[in-house]
Amino acid sequence: MSPKSKRVAILTGGGDCPGLNAVIRGLVRRLKPEGYTLLGLLDGWEGLLMNKTMELDFRSVSGILNVGGTILGTSRTNVLKDETTIKKAFEQFKALDLDALVAIGGEGTLYVTNELFKRGMPVVGVPKTIDNDINATDFTFGFNTAVEVATQAIDRIHTTAESHKRVMVVEVMGRHAGWIAAYSGIAGGADVILMPEHVLSFKEICAKLEKRFQRGKKFSIIVVAEGARFEKDGEEISVAKSRTDAFGRPQLGGIGQTLANMIEDTIHIESRVTVIGHVQRGGTPTAQDRILASQLASGAADLILEEKFGQMSALRGTKIVSVPLSDATAKLKTVSEDIQKLVENFSE
Ligand code: F6P
Repeated sequence: MSPKSKRVAILTGGGDCPGLNAVIRGLVRRLKPEGYTLLGLLDGWEGLLMNKTMELDFRSVSGILNVGGTILGTSRTNVLKDETTIKKAFEQFKALDLDALVAIGGEGTLYVTNELFKRGMPVVGVPKTIDNDINATDFTFGFNTAVEVATQAIDRIHTTAESHKRVMVVEVMGRHAGWIAAYSGIAGGADVILMPEHVLSFKEICAKLEKRFQRGKKFSIIVVAEGARFEKDGEEISVAKSRTDAFGRPQLGGIGQTLANMIEDTIHIESRVTVIGHVQRGGTPTAQDRILASQLASGAADLILEEKFGQMSALRGTKIVSVPLSDATAKLKTVSEDIQKLVENFSE
C-alpha cells in the first residue's frame, strides 16, 4: 500500500492584499510535485470552522499570478473568540485529516496562528499586509502595490492642486504605522506627511503651509495616514469611527477631512480631501509584489517540507529566512528612524 499523501490546508485571513494569489499559486507549485494534497479553506478561519473548502491543484491556480484579491476569499473571523470555537478548530483540523496548515495573514491572523500552534496545531505563517507593519520581516507583499497606487494618485492631485491654488489632503491607509504615507509622500513630493508614529501640532502644519505660500508656492499637498493624529491646543485630534472589527480594532477614516476643514477655517486656504481607501488594496500586484509573494510562498513550502512548524517565512535584506511566529507577533513594526528622518528632510 502506498503511503497516504500529506494534506496541507491554505487560508487567507484579514484584509485582502495584492499578491495573495501569487502566494497560493507558489505553495501549490512547490508542494504538489512533492506529493502533497492541497486544500483551500474558504473565507479565512471561517473555512476551517464551517468546513468550506476547495481542492487546490495546478489547474485551480493557473492564471492567478497577476490577479488581485484572493481566490480563497477572506474574513476577520476570530477563532480565539472562546474555548468552544478553539475546540471546534482542532476538531475540524482532524476531521479534514490535515497534516499542516499555512495561514497567510497580517498581525491578527498570525497572532491566531501562533496561539493555535502553542496549543499543538502544526502551522506555518506567511506575512501579508499593505501596511508593512509586521515585525520580523523587512517588507510585506502588497505594500509596494499600495505605494504605487497612492503615488500615482498624488501625482495626479498635484496638477489640480496647482491649477486651483489649493491645499490637497490625501488620506492613505495605515492603521498603526505610517509606511504607506511615508513612502508615497516622499515619492510624490508631499509637503507635509502625517504618520501615527509622529504627532505634529496643527500650528506646525499651518506654519509649513503658510511658509510655502509666502515663498510663492500657491498650493500644497498633505499626505496623512488614516491612523495619524495631530495636536491642537493641548488636545490630540484623531478620527476613529465607533465601529470595530472582530478583533475589536476601530474602523478608521476621516482624519483627512477633519484636517482639511480645520485648515480652511484657520488659515483660509481652500482645501480638498481625497481618501484613496480600498483602491490601494485592489487590483493587480506590481511585479515586485509578485516576486516577494512567490519568494515567501517558496520559503513557507520549505518550512512545510522540513516540518518546521510555528514559523513564518520572512524577508531579511535580500534573503528569505524563517522566523518564529512569536517574533512576528511580538510587536508592530512602525516606521524606522531613517525613513522618519527622510520624511523630515524631504517634506517642507
Ligand atoms: O490592515 C490593513 C488595512 O488595509 C488597514 O490599513 C485598514 O485600516 C484596514 O485594513 C481596513 O480594513 P477593512 O477592509 O475592514 O475596511
